[in-house]
Amino acid sequence: MVGPRLRALSGIKPTGMPHWGNHFGMIAPAVEMSKAYESFYFIADLHALTTVRDAEKMRTDSYQVAATLIAAGLDPAEAVLWRQSDIPEVCELAWALGCVTGFGLLERAHAYKDARAHERDVNFGVVGSPVLMAADILLYDADVVPVGRDQIQHLEMTRDMVGFFNQAFLGDSRHDGEGRWLGGGLKLPSAVVREATGVVPGIDGRKMSKSYDNHIPVFGSPKEVRKRVMAIVTDSTPLEAPKDPTRCNVVALHRLFADAAGHAELEARYRGGGYGYGHAKQALFEQSEATFAPLRGRFEALMADRDGLEDILRDGAKRARAVAEPVLERVRAAVGLPSRVSR
Ligand code: ADP
Ligand code: TRP
Repeated sequence: MVGPRLRALSGIKPTGMPHWGNHFGMIAPAVEMSKAYESFYFIADLHALTTVRDAEKMRTDSYQVAATLIAAGLDPAEAVLWRQSDIPEVCELAWALGCVTGFGLLERAHAYKDARAHERDVNFGVVGSPVLMAADILLYDADVVPVGRDQIQHLEMTRDMVGFFNQAFLGDSRHDGEGRWLGGGLKLPSAVVREATGVVPGIDGRKMSKSYDNHIPVFGSPKEVRKRVMAIVTDSTPLEAPKDPTRCNVVALHRLFADAAGHAELEARYRGGGYGYGHAKQALFEQSEATFAPLRGRFEALMADRDGLEDILRDGAKRARAVAEPVLERVRAAVGLPSRVSR
C-alpha cells in the first residue's frame, strides 16, 4: 500500500524579481519536488516587511514571485500556493514559539550577525525572523523543507524550537528514537538541500543575492539579462591564452544550464585557448535563453492578469488555512490558550 505523501513546504521573500540563485537554489528544486510531494509554497511577505518600505513594491513583487513559480512549472491546482500574510495565524504561532526561544539562540543566526556587522537596521522583525520562519513550517506540519544551503541554520533553529515547545508544554519530544512523530505538539521537519547546485555565484563572484546587487533576473527582458551576463567579472587573461575553467564565474553559471556534454565542450574551449570571455558569456546567455525564454510568455501573461493571480493565491490561502487551523488548535490546547473552534 502506498502511504500518505510527505508534505514539502518552502517560502520565498518578495524582495524583487527572482534571480538565478533563487531559481536553481530553491524554485527549480521546489517545482521538481511538487511532482512527488504534497507541496505547500508561499510568498513570504511578512518576512519581506523587515526591509521593504514601499507598499506598491510589496504588492508587485509578491505577484512576481507567484508568477515566477507558476511559470517555472508549479501547478497551483495541485500544489498549495499562498501569500503568507493571508494566514495571520502564523503570527500567533510565532509568538508562542518566541516565548520558548532564548535570545541567545537568535543572536547566533547568521542573518542577524550579518545585519549587525554591516550596521544595517536591526529591527525586532530581523531578530525574530527565524521564529517566524519556524512558525511558517510548523503551522503546516511540514515533513521536508527544500531550501538553499544558506537556510540550513534556520532549519536547525526550527528543529530546536520544536524541542523547546514540546518539552516545555508536553514534557517530551513527541518523537520516537528515530525521529518519527508520535502526534500532538509540533512535528519535526527536515531540510532538503540541492547539494549539486550549492551556492550560485553572482556576477561579481560572491553569492548571488539581491542585497549585493550582483544578480541576474530569471524573467528579465533578454536585453537586461544579456547586459548582466556581459558584466560578469572575469580576469584579464588575453583571448589567445588557455584559461582555467575551474576559476571562472561564467563557467560556474554555465554549468547550471548546460548538459554534461555541452559543459565539457565549454571547458575544453577554455583549456585550448583562442576562446575569450566574451564568447563564453555569449554562450552562457544563449543557454539561459534556451531555458527561460520558453517560460517568459507564461510569466508575462500571469503578470498582466493580477485578478487571476489573486484568485490563485486566495484559493491557496483557503487550502492552507484548512491545514493551519487544527495545528494551531493543538498549540492553543498545549499552552492553555482558549480554543477558537469550539466556541
Ligand atoms: P536573496 O539573497 O537574493 O535575498 P533570498 O534570501 O530571498 O535571496 O532567497 C530565497 C531562496 O533562494 C532561499 O531558499 C535561498 O536559499 C535561495 N537562494 C538565494 N540565493 C541563492 C544562491 N546564490 N544560491 C543558491 N540558492 C540561493
Ligand atoms: N527565510 C527564507 C529566506 O530568506 C524564506 C522563508 C521564510 C522560508 N519562511 C520559510 C523558507 C519557510 C522555507 C520555509 O529565503
